[in-house]
Amino acid sequence: MTKEKFETLLVHGARCGDDLSGSLTVPIYQTTTYRQGELGVEPPYDYSRSVNPTRRALERQIAVMEEGRHGFAFSSGMAAITALFFLFESGDEILIPKDLYGGTFRLLDSHLKSFGVSWRVADTGDLTAFERAFADRTKAVLLETPTNPLMRVSDIAEVSRIAHRNGALVIADNTFLTPYFQRPLTLGADIVVHSATKYLSGHNDVLSGLVVMNSDQLAERFLAIQKSTGGVLSPFDSYLLIRGIKTLALRMDRETEGALSVARWLERHNGADRVYYPGLESDPGHSLQSKQASGSGALLSFDLNEKYDIKTFFSALRVITPAESLGSIESMACHPATMSHASIPPEMRAEMGISERLVRLAIGVEGLEDIEEDLELAFKSSLR
Ligand SMILES: Cc1ncc(COP(=O)(O)O)c(C=O)c1O
Repeated sequence: MTKEKFETLLVHGARCGDDLSGSLTVPIYQTTTYRQGELGVEPPYDYSRSVNPTRRALERQIAVMEEGRHGFAFSSGMAAITALFFLFESGDEILIPKDLYGGTFRLLDSHLKSFGVSWRVADTGDLTAFERAFADRTKAVLLETPTNPLMRVSDIAEVSRIAHRNGALVIADNTFLTPYFQRPLTLGADIVVHSATKYLSGHNDVLSGLVVMNSDQLAERFLAIQKSTGGVLSPFDSYLLIRGIKTLALRMDRETEGALSVARWLERHNGADRVYYPGLESDPGHSLQSKQASGSGALLSFDLNEKYDIKTFFSALRVITPAESLGSIESMACHPATMSHASIPPEMRAEMGISERLVRLAIGVEGLEDIEEDLELAFKSSLR
């Protein structure tokens, strides 16, 4: 799909139409249940945990955006990931990347273990070693590319080929790049999951999760899981998400442009020891990123130099908000060690390369001059 076609799809794709009034926006079907017709004849809508027209419009929208066949909407990214884990059974194992999102790690490590589903780290940076990591019990590979917060890039096509050769599914978390920049299903992954709370909704006002897949068989099983577990997205939040998606291209372009500029600025700054952003030519993931994605997104990280005090750096920020999230029009700064990745044990965090001095920035749409001025002020205030 060309960039132009995709931009049009963002605006018009989800139009489910409203035959009654011709409303341009998808109506909010704020109902839990529906009048049923003849007894014994399955109605198109029965109960909103199973199906709701507003949610359905969103589910169709994300499916076409990801070039997939089946979409599912959940009340958060974690609700979507939890439902996906119901595809597995006791004795199964899931391979995970080195710096997986902390919340997904916590779910796997603290809760899924008690159902007999285990996890193991397999580094996709070395594909020969990665292939050796597969065992008979390995049923899935969880992929985040680029990873959070170290922005490591994995080769989705190669990882999918290896996983399929070994009988495992590939689940790609596409939260950071969104289908505007990267379409994992087209590259070979089986399932795409999103924390739609981030770039897809884009305004820090909706918690939501989305899943897309191609296999009809898998989708039938997953539909039953969605209905049974019940963590579905409300009609109002579905509407807000459809609205957010309409401006995805505009926001992603602007925020990505800002991120590249900030990354280049930080690369030249003494206060940043190392900058992690695959949009930089100097980044080890740059060429792979350019091959499989059409943009690098608006998330970047850097190691704050030892001469600067990390607590003061965060408290000095005025335009950039210290916050857990990302993907909104407001710029945000996160300290992974105490925020997003606090649930990962410190030794494991250190092994992953997430230091106490790592700062993650999600660039929003404020004036770039103000963002860089804010960072400069934070550097100046925190110099010891
Ligand atoms: C990559 C990634 N996946 C999943 C999640 C979980 O999503 P949510 O916070 O919407 O439950 C997050 C949240 O930060 C995330 O960053």
